[in-house]
Amino acid sequence: MQRVAAEPIEVLRTRTSQKWRTYADDVLPLPVAEMDFPLAPPIAAALHAAVDRSDTGYASSSRPVAEAFQGFAATRLGWDVDPARVTCTADVSLGIVEVLRRVTEPGDGVVITPPIYPPFFDLVAEAGCAVVEVPMAGGIDEGWQLDLPGIEAALAGGARAMVLCNPHNPIGWVPDPESLRALAEIAAGAGATVVSDEVHGPLSQPESRYTPFLTVSDAAREHGFAITSASKSFNIPGLKSALIATASERSDRVRAALPYEVEWRLGQFGAIASIAAFREGGPWLDGVLASLDDNRRLLADLLEDELPGVGYRMPQASYLAWLDLSALDWGDDPAAYALEHAKVALANGPGFGASVGRGHARLNFACTPEVLAEAVTRLADAR
Ligand SMILES: Cc1ncc(COP(=O)(O)O)c(C=O)c1O
Repeated sequence: MQRVAAEPIEVLRTRTSQKWRTYADDVLPLPVAEMDFPLAPPIAAALHAAVDRSDTGYASSSRPVAEAFQGFAATRLGWDVDPARVTCTADVSLGIVEVLRRVTEPGDGVVITPPIYPPFFDLVAEAGCAVVEVPMAGGIDEGWQLDLPGIEAALAGGARAMVLCNPHNPIGWVPDPESLRALAEIAAGAGATVVSDEVHGPLSQPESRYTPFLTVSDAAREHGFAITSASKSFNIPGLKSALIATASERSDRVRAALPYEVEWRLGQFGAIASIAAFREGGPWLDGVLASLDDNRRLLADLLEDELPGVGYRMPQASYLAWLDLSALDWGDDPAAYALEHAKVALANGPGFGASVGRGHARLNFACTPEVLAEAVTRLADAR
């Protein structure tokens, strides 16, 4: 497999995005989920062409993105998406909030499963709801699972929805179809809704292909919404384009009731880039997956050699490593210690859930092998 090589650090430091403007130049920035690969050539060409024709107005509608996604989903994800059942919006976060607003009443509980992508805490609050934490079962050593009895109890206790992270950030876990089917049954039993964030789905590795929630059962289609985007897999989160997909009349009614403005927030460059990604980005994505596969294995070797007490389970998807650094005795928030003493910026563990994130941090390995090696050496030297 032809790898896509990440850019060297001198080139990356000319970028002006979050990842490259938050820290001083002596820091290796490995927190925020942006990748260091060059843009997929078909996306770059589509954006250059759009600039050349001054095509910078409003995005026309969801339809062209939805149709491009239909092809991508059919060929790469085993998911038969009806483009008439897709509404686009600016980003996955906004899609989650807007759906939650329509399937809950103010103050209702919404289940999330720490350790979890920190903005989920805020998105639930933004939708006017209360976070109900049902931590993941298992762990780094034994492997992860949803705590299905815990989720069932939370929904029986009054929570009205769950935000599922499929695949799961930060642990890189890909839920198995049986768990998703069981979750859908539980949601159906409680008359609750599952909002499935599938933004990392196309980044699942070939041996652990992710299962789109809406494909698992009628109960999932009846009670589920899928929110996805090309933003993570093609590294275009700044361009603002995401899809809200439904597959039942019940969910269609909710999607149809979304305010008109939700769709208007789709970015024109996001739409253009997403269409190019979904139609022509497959070979680039395969090359990126091969590079990420190398890096997730390299990280295992580096940790074993240089930081043997650190807990790491190789992720099945995406480019984020959830590290248990508690053996290093760097306190509740080892990312703060790492930034100060190793000049390596990691995402702060307690932000993923205070109860389970203590002593942990998340590392982004979508970088060159050299940067990854340097980061581990710096961390080891800071002990
Ligand atoms: C699970 C998850 N959902 C959503 C997002 C953000 O997506 P967007 O920028 O489209 O809101 C991220 C970004 O890292 C993520 O990891």
